[in-house]
Amino acid sequence: MQTWRLDDSAQTIVVAAINNNMAFVAYWGAVLPEHEDVNQLVKAQVRDLTGGMIDQNAPVSLCPVEGNAFSGMPALIASDAMGTALMPRFTLQHACYNKQALELIYNDVDLGLTYKASISLAIDGLWQLSSNLQSVDDIQVHWLAAPVLPVADKTPRALEFGGRWCGEFRLTESSFGPSALVRENRTGRSGHEHFPGLMTASQGANYCQGDVYAWHYGWSGGHKMVAEQLPDGRRQVQFGHVSHSYRGMAKTFSSAKQYVAFSAHGINGVSVPLQKYVREELLPRDLLQKPRPVHYNCWEAIYFDHDVELLQDLASRAASLGAERFVLDDGWFGQRDDDTTALGDWDLDLRKYPQGLTPLIDHIESLGMGFGLWFEPEMVSENSQLYRAHPEWVLGHATQTLGRQQLVLNMALAPVQEYLYDKVNQMLANNAIEYIKWDHNRVLPFADVSQTQAVYNLLARLRSVFPHVEIESCSSGGGRIDYGILQHTQRVWLSDSNDALERLRIQHHAATFLPAIITGSHVGPRCCHTSGRVHSMNFRAWVAAQRHMGMEMDPRELTAAEASQLLSVVKWWKQQRSWLLAADILRLDSGDEAVLAEQHLAANGEQFVVFAGVADSSEQISPRPLPLTGLDAQALYEIDLVNRDELVNLSRGEMAIKVDTLTLSGSYLMNYGVTLPWQFPNAMWVLKGKRL
Ligand code: DGJ
Repeated sequence: MQTWRLDDSAQTIVVAAINNNMAFVAYWGAVLPEHEDVNQLVKAQVRDLTGGMIDQNAPVSLCPVEGNAFSGMPALIASDAMGTALMPRFTLQHACYNKQALELIYNDVDLGLTYKASISLAIDGLWQLSSNLQSVDDIQVHWLAAPVLPVADKTPRALEFGGRWCGEFRLTESSFGPSALVRENRTGRSGHEHFPGLMTASQGANYCQGDVYAWHYGWSGGHKMVAEQLPDGRRQVQFGHVSHSYRGMAKTFSSAKQYVAFSAHGINGVSVPLQKYVREELLPRDLLQKPRPVHYNCWEAIYFDHDVELLQDLASRAASLGAERFVLDDGWFGQRDDDTTALGDWDLDLRKYPQGLTPLIDHIESLGMGFGLWFEPEMVSENSQLYRAHPEWVLGHATQTLGRQQLVLNMALAPVQEYLYDKVNQMLANNAIEYIKWDHNRVLPFADVSQTQAVYNLLARLRSVFPHVEIESCSSGGGRIDYGILQHTQRVWLSDSNDALERLRIQHHAATFLPAIITGSHVGPRCCHTSGRVHSMNFRAWVAAQRHMGMEMDPRELTAAEASQLLSVVKWWKQQRSWLLAADILRLDSGDEAVLAEQHLAANGEQFVVFAGVADSSEQISPRPLPLTGLDAQALYEIDLVNRDELVNLSRGEMAIKVDTLTLSGSYLMNYGVTLPWQFPNAMWVLKGKRL
């Protein structure tokens, strides 16, 4: 038997291989003592047999395959050129190991296959795993999972994020049972509907306590997940590119990176390393260091009605509200007067911009703002010069159904790559552009690995030539968010919903995987364009201030009172952003279901801000105390309401917090909580705390 032990401060993973067979994870969970005898452990976890079973349980290995009576779904389904199913019998050839990385290489000489499983530490608390398959001959791979991990028996709850346009990151819960939980996202993007992630949790686990395991598959081309209970009760989780998306025969196949984390301290325990990984490893270092600018995006102000003078006016107004970056959205190119035309014609519309973009950009820069521009490079309108010239560049067949009246370009074609690179390059080279909003507004006709890979390549090429140009991943809002696209982009447009109430919930759940610094959140129009709801400016502004703040309304609609409320939240955000955007978002277990609360705790633990969003009216008449988390129990903290000017006259109790700061221990704040004043629904309490 060979064993390999991997440790970080939160977890231990023990991998074992018996008789050079495919290795399996014998243990994954809370840190084991250093003196644990892992050989004993591997022997100890063997489960009993009884009637109706084969004579030895096939392990839930890193790559379970058919051929040895493994009763679950295999992690590899492949066929040779004749279409015959391949049933490899892999034998260990080589292991490369140190305490934070393990690479195992297996082969099947008869079939000419080599399989590699890689496991390495991504950041303390988070591991990355990937698989790679090489074949001597061309083969077809229908399904290849990243290295498979077992699910701890004590975490029978499966938590997933589903959703829809304007309603991303909806949490759903199910239990493991006789039927597998299988998610096949065939949309060709990470998708509003199926975020590529999963958590399993112990009974009673919540944000702050209990055992929680997290998985995330960093791929933007559509994924498949299998969370399955085997007939003998063991459970496995598989993630990979959605099945049948490797189009055609090839000799090399790789999974994307699968990220996993375990914590004995609740969902926050896995979210902290996940958020930190994006913030500190994926995001270019210089972005973490310089202040993130407040955005102004003109989309919901003007849609396609571009007019230079009006845009200059909007820019001036946005600047006076504190905006620092102006993003010119859809409508500046080709003959794009609505969403039926011109995608692909990435030349400036001279009808709208007779003197080029310079008068607008100059004006924006004179206001001290930077300039950003919208693109949707992967798409083409039927009514476009590009489509008329190159109908053969389209992905999929000619009679396919359009999506938002548009088609998708086959990004894997070299001339398409060159064309798009040249067009974007031209705009970036000839104009002072510091930012791209990179949109993707329809699902693909079919999922295709090479399409996604080609998009990554184009993004990487542009970033290497224009490293100062940041790119935002947008896909009708949050349709393309995952750690694959985040290797090439520096912000995500989380949702097309600027409804503060919706956004409060979406961003709260998205924080499982996403830190504040990359999560765009904008103050929308008074009457939300996607929900018809009207929210106060204070609520809209505080919800945006929870993440990378921006605004997207027509500033001409603002009353003087709204403008001054917005300005004061923007000012507050700018004062805090240097630490706030590097803080961990810790979600709080509110005893009141109407309150969605999170605590942003500074990296050094010296200060925090609690955002307590009142999303509904409460069951009980008086607000319940809100227990905080992550504080030093022995330390004293001074807490203060940031926005006590939002007290309403229906709140009439004599509460110290309404008039003064309070000094309380971390122990009290975590065990009893902060008692906040009564508030109308659709409002936010903002509380700051500092360690004394
Ligand atoms: C969808 C995006 O999510 C919106 O913010 C906007 O950019 C439109 N596309 C433009 O067509």
